[in-house]
Amino acid sequence: MNDENVLLHRDLPLWEDARPFLDVRNNDEHTIVAYGLARMLLAEIPEADESVVLPAILLHDVGWKRIDPDLLLLAVGRNPTRKDLVRDHELFGVEIAQEILERQRPSGVDTEAVLAIIDGHDTTKEARSINDAVVKDADKAWRATPHGMKTICAWYDTDILDTVETLERVSNPFLLTPAGRALATGMCAAVKAEAQIEHYLGRASDA
Ligand SMILES: [Fe+2]
Ligand SMILES: [Fe+2]
Repeated sequence: MNDENVLLHRDLPLWEDARPFLDVRNNDEHTIVAYGLARMLLAEIPEADESVVLPAILLHDVGWKRIDPDLLLLAVGRNPTRKDLVRDHELFGVEIAQEILERQRPSGVDTEAVLAIIDGHDTTKEARSINDAVVKDADKAWRATPHGMKTICAWYDTDILDTVETLERVSNPFLLTPAGRALATGMCAAVKAEAQIEHYLGRASDA
């Protein structure tokens, strides 16, 4: 294993099998970044089990592939009108992930525990276990990353400060671990401070 690679060697076959299901709505990119966040959270939360959390993050959104692409953005965002599709993607995700896990049988991975997290990862808001909390926080904290903000701004044609404001209103109460909250609120604070560079310096940022 190359330590610089974000995906663990064990998870590469799962990733290859998941990829054909993740090529909608930037889910492939979202999955890689959320996996990186999950590894960071696992380092902060030793009681969580990486052999459940990481496969669950890789496979959590494969179900979106079975949802009509024209309806995807109606399921999420500031004023979702098709929340039923959020539940549908979880149920489809469990079916697809089960096929992948039964085919690959990754060593040391508890398939049932992974599937139980995928089932309800968006529609249940409480932490059903510490592993569930880490998956949920990695998934939701993605929105506050540079990649997540860029992606969301493009989806809804909003600017970054609007996106941060929405995130702070709808996301932060749903972050479940102290490490996840620090990660997401820290990134939001940095974006808001960056937006004030011109106010204090009288010139645009050089960055
Ligand atoms: Fe999801
Ligand atoms: Fe997700």
